[in-house]
Amino acid sequence: MKFQFVSFVMFVVVAAAASPYTSPSFNVLDYGAVGNGKNDETRAFMDAWKDTCSEVHDNPTLLIPKGKTFMLQPMWFQGPCNSATIYIKIEGTIIAPNNIKAWKWPNNIDRLTWIRFIEISGLVVYGGGLIDGKGASWWDCYSNTKCESENPTALHFHACENLILRQLTHINSPRNHISLNACHGSHISELHIIAPNESPNTDGIDIAESSNIIIENSKIETGDDCIAINHGSSSIDIVGIFCGPGHGISVGSLGRNGAQESVEKIYVRNCTFNGTTNGARIKTWIGGQGYARKVTFEDIIVIEANNPVIIDQEYNPYDSVYAVKVSDVTFRNIRGTSISKHAIQLHCDEALSCTNIILEGINITSSIGEEVHASCKNVNGICTSCIPYVPCLFQE
Ligand SMILES: *[C@@H]1O[C@H](CO)[C@@H](O)[C@H](O)[C@H]1NC(C)=O
Ligand SMILES: *[C@@H]1O[C@H](CO)[C@@H](O)[C@H](O)[C@H]1NC(C)=O
Ligand SMILES: *[C@@H]1O[C@H](CO)[C@@H](O)[C@H](O)[C@H]1NC(C)=O
Repeated sequence: MKFQFVSFVMFVVVAAAASPYTSPSFNVLDYGAVGNGKNDETRAFMDAWKDTCSEVHDNPTLLIPKGKTFMLQPMWFQGPCNSATIYIKIEGTIIAPNNIKAWKWPNNIDRLTWIRFIEISGLVVYGGGLIDGKGASWWDCYSNTKCESENPTALHFHACENLILRQLTHINSPRNHISLNACHGSHISELHIIAPNESPNTDGIDIAESSNIIIENSKIETGDDCIAINHGSSSIDIVGIFCGPGHGISVGSLGRNGAQESVEKIYVRNCTFNGTTNGARIKTWIGGQGYARKVTFEDIIVIEANNPVIIDQEYNPYDSVYAVKVSDVTFRNIRGTSISKHAIQLHCDEALSCTNIILEGINITSSIGEEVHASCKNVNGICTSCIPYVPCLFQE
């Protein structure tokens, strides 16, 4: 086992500053990585990770140094690790193989993700570096419906406790850039996520089966949802996100193919949607079960958004017995412009309806000098000071 001790310089202020503390650091270059952007560095990363994860001293760091580019094949960072907190400091660049043919899938891993982090508690991924999923050839095969399997997610975090992810740039994922599943207590901040407007399914951040997640102060410009909050999510705070181009911030979709799926306690505040196809959206499918409740969108600026405020509890033409229940939703202080006429759409199921839907301080005007309007079906709630006027809600 080889490692070197470096001074512990972290964004976390160390309380015991008087006694300089050093923590073990494992540099991938010491494990045979070259960093020329061509070599397959997967082995070196795995070996360095193994030592980092099994380190018995506190706060070990896996270091990916700056000024170098490391090409990685699909791989897993597997926990649990010995230290309660473990750092992956990405100062350099990590890239995927250049095109689909160059991707090598190990036998023991599925084809759903490029880089996966599993069962690691107290993981801190940071460092100012860049992660490039080289998605272009995947987008091509998707648009020609020639892909052999689903396009992979770039980074997937599974079963993580207290994840911190910050100060990184993520570009051109084959599919979603970051996904969290079964993560509890995460703080994601200062990310910049970029993919072309027309790239398919390139969500910024997807969350499912997770709770107590904060996502803040990030800029997300991609081809699909900036953030999607999916089944099994609760207590999710999203603050200070600049979104666009993209599809906005979406709760759901929930209940596809008859699934029972629920989310609650979602709070989206101080976000800007610029040129997005949706803004603040809740989307459910007919035939599903479960609920979306206690959802608040507050202090939102929309700039030329297509569907700035939208609840789409898909209209049910077949009298299916089931739908996902939508209730206790607040849209407060939403201002700006819509590029379509549909500034506000609240479309709910006839049998179930959406209940306690509160709109307060809405002012959405047309970016192209047209009339904009609100449309609704089967909604119960209150509207206080809404432009455009929302005919179906009780006006205060
Ligand atoms: C709102 O978000 C922006 C980043 O988009 C941030 O700079 C600003 O401090 C936030 N303001 C408040 C009041 O949270
Ligand atoms: C919104 O997007 C447009 C087009 O990309 C850009 O020109 C404009 O500067 C953006 N607005 C803001 C406030 O960032
Ligand atoms: C609504 O927004 C428009 C355009 O920004 C503005 O002219 C108007 O005064 C606003 N109305 C209210 C009631 O704030």
